[in-house]
Amino acid sequence: MVIEQGGIAAVVAEAREKLAACRDEPELERWHTEFLGRKAGKLNALTRSVGTLPPDQRRAAGIAANAANRELEQAYEARAENFRRARLETSIAEGKLDVTLPGRRPQIGRLHPVTQTLRDLLAALTDLGFQVAEGPEIETDYYNFEMLRIPQDHPARDMWDTLWLDPLTEGRRPLLLRTHTSPNQIRVMEQRQPPIRIAVPGKCYRFEAVDASHEWQLTQIEGLAVDEGITLADLKGTLGELARRMFGSERQVMLRHAYFPFVEPGVEMAVDCFVCGGTGCGLCKGTGWIEILGAGMVHPEVLSGVGYDPVRYTGFAWGLGVERVAMLRYGIDDIRHFYGNDLRFLEQF
Ligand code: FA5
Repeated sequence: MVIEQGGIAAVVAEAREKLAACRDEPELERWHTEFLGRKAGKLNALTRSVGTLPPDQRRAAGIAANAANRELEQAYEARAENFRRARLETSIAEGKLDVTLPGRRPQIGRLHPVTQTLRDLLAALTDLGFQVAEGPEIETDYYNFEMLRIPQDHPARDMWDTLWLDPLTEGRRPLLLRTHTSPNQIRVMEQRQPPIRIAVPGKCYRFEAVDASHEWQLTQIEGLAVDEGITLADLKGTLGELARRMFGSERQVMLRHAYFPFVEPGVEMAVDCFVCGGTGCGLCKGTGWIEILGAGMVHPEVLSGVGYDPVRYTGFAWGLGVERVAMLRYGIDDIRHFYGNDLRFLEQF
């Protein structure tokens, strides 16, 4: 389009007329493109052609083009504002708040059943005089095995199928994912002197075939008490009280002999199976009992290994499986539910 006498006034007149006829926002946008669009807008085309006029007419034409541009932009803005306000009013009118409708229930998260059980266990243990401590999930062979009287090539290593992070080489302390919380017995005793009463919670990992009662990731709480004159009766009394607080007094609890290289004597504690009531089923593997922890009197060589005098001091320790306790408390018949991340399961707790 080339500028000519009265050209700007004609474009403005046409634009005003069409603007008045716009019925909605899309039409308004098309109008803007037609008249004020940067590339193909009619007014812009005229403004660009000001340079083709004889020099004495250019100034006046330029001023007129700018004034027309301002006027049309303002008219456009006013129209757009009208449409916006109308849209808002419609949406307020249509979406009127009905205060009689029931509210939307907010989704509230909750603690995982294993976390709830862990917290309850730790609350009971602190009540019984135990302090809570923590240790690393990535351990050395030294703390996870060696200091617990399980040297390399000891057959007892087969009790814990290990996820190694380093190759097992002579003269080094290779890294692994801790298979139990027992390394913390050593870590704590290296740093403190008796009397000691600690509880160490934490995740453990095993290269293990998974079934209804075994996961490859499990949570344990290690307990350790060392002092003068501690006996197996103290261990029995403490674990009995803990079981009563967790399961109530109706549930049957059994201590039976078990072997762990770092205790002497060693025991394990089992609770009667809630699925079969003790007659034997798949969960308890036909035994009628679900094992929840291993325990015993700390081996004198473990005590002397950390510099304690085993003649003066004795102690007990246990390693408890938190998932197993949660299964018994809530009647969960398969440990795999815990880490399946199925909300239908988790929302029940
Ligand atoms: C131990 O881990 C020893 N450290 C326990 C111990 C500590 C003995 C102190 C003596 C003194 P064990 O491998 O049996 O022992 O595991 C202890 C408990 O952890 C078991 O009774 C069980 O409740 C739980 N547990 C073991 N393996 C698994 C698994 N794969 N999945 C779920 N829970 C498990």
